[in-house]
Amino acid sequence: MPQDNQIAVEFHNVTFSRNNRPLVSNLNFSIHRGEALILLGRSGSGKTTTMKLINRLFIPTQGEVLFDGIPTAQWDEIKLRRKIGYVIQETGLFPHFTVERNVGLVPSLEGWKPKQIKTRVYELLHLVGLDPEKFAQRYPHELSGGQRQRVGVARALAADPPVLLMDEPFGALDPITRLELQQEFKRLQQELGKTVVFVTHDIQEAFVLASRIGLMDGGELVVLGTTNEFLHSQHPEALAFLQCLKPAI
Ligand SMILES: Nc1ncnc2c1ncn2[C@@H]1O[C@H](COP(=O)(O)OP(=O)(O)OP(=O)(O)O)[C@@H](O)[C@H]1O
Ligand SMILES: [Mg+2]
Repeated sequence: MPQDNQIAVEFHNVTFSRNNRPLVSNLNFSIHRGEALILLGRSGSGKTTTMKLINRLFIPTQGEVLFDGIPTAQWDEIKLRRKIGYVIQETGLFPHFTVERNVGLVPSLEGWKPKQIKTRVYELLHLVGLDPEKFAQRYPHELSGGQRQRVGVARALAADPPVLLMDEPFGALDPITRLELQQEFKRLQQELGKTVVFVTHDIQEAFVLASRIGLMDGGELVVLGTTNEFLHSQHPEALAFLQCLKPAI
């Protein structure tokens, strides 16, 4: 099958079941290189499960997920994950590693020189708004929840992977820091041309960051389109989310 070079990830009729119950079903969509695809949906709608099908934490029960044209089931897991930065919902930092070691983990696994790693780690900590002089030597338990999330984002960016999966990475931040990081992240994503899959249940955030929005409902992708197309969707779940865009006062 000829490979379309503009496509980073493709879902073909994907269903993933546990104990004979589908968690997601009938997923058919492509993620374009360089786009920010926002997966929006209420709690339990299948967003995290869809992400985990991309980096092979889950393998489809039916259908297949292609990464760079190759089914994830055929990918060497380690090689695949080196191409994919992953920020998980709970940040997933190693508790017994300093911030510096956590952020520099993948570069060090890839054999970068210590000086190069340190420069990169400091650059990334600046980027996510954490002063390296203050934070590099701390341990995760010495940080606030929002600071830990920012370290998680820095870590995912560290080895410059072409694809980033971000599962509610800004969830624990105060609204001002959150907006700053969203804007910073959008600038960065456009500048670096990364392919990003970003999960949120916050429609405001989806509109700030999206190239396209994919709306999940009951384990299915029910709407997929640009923000403008989303605004005109008549799907009841899209209408329910659009209600939340209206100003509260
Ligand atoms: N390992 C698992 N085994 C069985 N069921 C699971 C497993 N992981 C998730 N589920 C179920 O699958 C459904 C989808 O879960 P998922 O984590 O993908 O939702 P989500 O959209 O990410 O929700 P949230 O916004 O709360 O993080 C839920 O009903 C959940 O209870
Ligand atoms: Mg989730």
